Amino acid sequence: MKKDSILITGACGQLGTELGIALQNIHGNNAVIFSDIRRSDQLPPDALFENLDTTQSQDLAKIVEKYQITQIYHLAAILSAKGEQMPLSTWKINMDSLLNVLEIGREKKLNKIYFPSSIAAFGTNTPKENTQQDTIMHPNTVYGISKLTGELWAQYYFQKYGLDVRSLRYPGLISYKTLPGGGTTDYAVDIYFKAIQENQYTCFLSENTYLPMMYMPDAVRGTIELMEAEYDKIQTRTAYNLGAMSFSPKEVAQAIQKLQPAFSIQYAPDHRQAIADSWPRSLDDSRARQEWQWQPQYDLNRMTEDMLKNIALQLGKTLIKQS
Ligand code: SER
Repeated sequence: MKKDSILITGACGQLGTELGIALQNIHGNNAVIFSDIRRSDQLPPDALFENLDTTQSQDLAKIVEKYQITQIYHLAAILSAKGEQMPLSTWKINMDSLLNVLEIGREKKLNKIYFPSSIAAFGTNTPKENTQQDTIMHPNTVYGISKLTGELWAQYYFQKYGLDVRSLRYPGLISYKTLPGGGTTDYAVDIYFKAIQENQYTCFLSENTYLPMMYMPDAVRGTIELMEAEYDKIQTRTAYNLGAMSFSPKEVAQAIQKLQPAFSIQYAPDHRQAIADSWPRSLDDSRARQEWQWQPQYDLNRMTEDMLKNIALQLGKTLIKQS
């Protein structure tokens, strides 16, 4: 069988860089093409990179042709909070780029396409606790509408054209390596950096706002496991709920205080509170667990230890455990 050649769009975003490196480790550096509207210095120096705006279908086609691409991980998108500041252009960017990717997948008969969905695809009247795979979905952000619509397009291309599109509904993703931009769950990354830099944090969500969250190593592994799962196992062609943990800002603060007792948190909820309030508080991901044996490895305490240790190392600070 032909060797895989993998294109990642939005590769300089929070997920793309780490996922790309994991794919390089499996397939080799020359098999992974990172693309984005501009290169970031977070990418490995030896990464193959192309400037690409995925709303431009001809530019996408040229890159698919140039590298004989067989798989696309389509990560380019505007996130929830930023999307509310520019609704129409967010819709256009998120949908045009997805449809361009699906179309090239169909035309060139690509092996597989990955499209990330999100907890944002749910909405205010979705049952919030242990949110089921199949439930009420009336998203009320442009980002969420684009994710739910994207899930349906993914399923459509699978059913109508046999294109092997796979998707996950990610919780908030947390990493110390590449920072998120413009999301509502970004506080759960910021809080760790501020803990190391200033020993205090002012949170833009209220203390008891529970949201589903996941540490990046789990998200990267889950994504690759989904993409490598046998074809017949993937019975869900919209997007799988993917869970790991669920916590509130108050609980993250307490987890940090176990390692840094002097850490303090204040709350100043802003426009992002309404977005968070419209999302699930926890997810039922039993479908992913049953169909392709999804199993997260990190809980809040394990992630907190790893985040603080690595951010301290990165910033050249000493993490002192006071008791
Ligand atoms: N992390 C995303 C956001 O906050 C949700 O998928 O927008």
